[in-house]
Amino acid sequence: MKHLLFAGTTIALLTATAASWAAMDPIATRQAVMKDNGAAIGTLAKMAKGEMDFDATAANLSVRVLYSGAAGFTSLFPAGSETGGETEASPKIWEDMAGFEAKNDDLLNAAASIKATPIADLDGVKAALGALGKTCQSCHEAYRIKKN
Ligand code: HEC
Repeated sequence: MKHLLFAGTTIALLTATAASWAAMDPIATRQAVMKDNGAAIGTLAKMAKGEMDFDATAANLSVRVLYSGAAGFTSLFPAGSETGGETEASPKIWEDMAGFEAKNDDLLNAAASIKATPIADLDGVKAALGALGKTCQSCHEAYRIKKN
């Protein structure tokens, strides 16, 4: 009986879609998206600083990560996910969802325009880093309460 129960749980987990994961744990999901954002921006920053050789594929892949992370990102902030867990989301998000969505659109649009004209050289990396990085900062200043 225990075995059967275990098998059932495994199947349920395997069939869970990304969307239902998000519904189950929006806080963990949005933090995972943001961790990917951090890694993607980190790649661009290392190239810009010369700590990593310029690599067009890696640079443009980072832009794609940021683009897909931003697509639908604000749906990971449903009512009820203001507290609980170790969220750094500011209550302002739920007071001003339209403003929060606008900040997210800034990132989405910046990534979309770089995607349309892919990065081809180191100057392109630096320009992309500037354009993308300011959208991170501007949303964090308004809608994230950093705990440490
Ligand atoms: C639309 C607003 C918004 C934009 C744009 C945004 N962030 Fe965030 N970010 C947040 C919020 C809100 C949190 C806190 C989420 C939570 O803890 O529930 C966060 C958290 C983070 C974290 C911490 C994740 C963790 O470990 O918990 C990192 C890293 C991060 N963001 C990086 C970035 C980078 C890099 C960019 C730009 C490419 C970016 N963010 C753009 C809103 C944004």
